[in-house]
Amino acid sequence: MVPMTQANTTTEPTPVTVLGLGDMGRALAGAFLSAGHPTTIWNRSPGKGEDLVARGAVRAASAEEAVRASGLVVVCLVDYDASDAVLEPLAEALRGRVLVNLTSDTPNRSRQAAAWAEKHSLSYLDGAIMVPVDVVGSADALIFHSGDRAAFEAHESTLKALGEPATFLGEDHGLAAAYDMAMLDFFYGAMGGLVHAFALARAEGVDGASLAPYLNTIAGILPPIAAYTATDIDTRTYTGEGANLAMMAASVDHILHTAKDRGLDVSQLTALKGIADRAIAEGHGPESWSSIVEVMAADR
Ligand SMILES: NC(=O)c1ccc[n+]([C@@H]2O[C@H](COP(=O)([O-])OP(=O)(O)OC[C@H]3O[C@@H](n4cnc5c(N)ncnc54)[C@H](OP(=O)(O)O)[C@@H]3O)[C@@H](O)[C@H]2O)c1
Repeated sequence: MVPMTQANTTTEPTPVTVLGLGDMGRALAGAFLSAGHPTTIWNRSPGKGEDLVARGAVRAASAEEAVRASGLVVVCLVDYDASDAVLEPLAEALRGRVLVNLTSDTPNRSRQAAAWAEKHSLSYLDGAIMVPVDVVGSADALIFHSGDRAAFEAHESTLKALGEPATFLGEDHGLAAAYDMAMLDFFYGAMGGLVHAFALARAEGVDGASLAPYLNTIAGILPPIAAYTATDIDTRTYTGEGANLAMMAASVDHILHTAKDRGLDVSQLTALKGIADRAIAEGHGPESWSSIVEVMAADR
């Protein structure tokens, strides 16, 4: 594995609290400690974070005690039901501090949390962590923030301990989650296709190790495809030059028939073929694959 460069360690030590010591919360607290920030930790259940305490973290006896220890409070729990349950009784203790919620959930949950924070006059940033735990704290760790710009600017250098760039997307608190959901939509769509590809190959007598090196060819063509698909979708012009939707839908049909012949689950492929067929029925056949957005979009 290539050693990663550590993220920002050059700022003044700034007291920070981390609420939640799941896999990600422990990684966040560890990154703050590595950058030299006095770190207070709390978790609902006991027994997590002993290694952090050994490295100098202070374990608070309650969430409120943890919040009162620092001007910057980072929360990372399983979802917003959990973070609401922990934070709602702490509105008074949070006043005058900056709350950064790095829990993942929907944009609407982020906006609801922001409305709660506004009601209590709290400085609130909502965030999304786009990398696994072992990348947190490195210069490669992409972490999105949105919401209170002044709070972000005041704590940007400390937040960079978690990863550079600490990316501020805008003042709509839902933006970090919106980017998170869009990126995960791409990721899980691809992961569904990936596992189905291995299932299809296995059914045809091809083992995973034989196929895997060739899949890099597919992965390698995706970055330029993402770039021109973005342009197609932003401009709503789908030229279809070099590869048109009707041809690509026929290709999906070949995969569908191969999978059916082998008795594989075809629910993902059937859904995809259905969308492509609807777009063709609406006249998009000669255009590019990206034109299927026209039958997906809520604003059509
Ligand atoms: N792990 C990753 O690679 C990764 C990557 C990107 C983003 N994320 C996001 O980071 C967040 C945390 O993930 P994780 O991997 O740390 O999850 P995890 O290991 O399952 O930890 C979940 C945390 O939530 C706490 N929790 C759950 N329900 C609670 C409740 N009702 N009240 C108080 N605390 C509660 C747990 O406390 P207990 O210990 O008491 O159960 C624990 O601290 C998630 O939103 C996840 O989507 C994770």
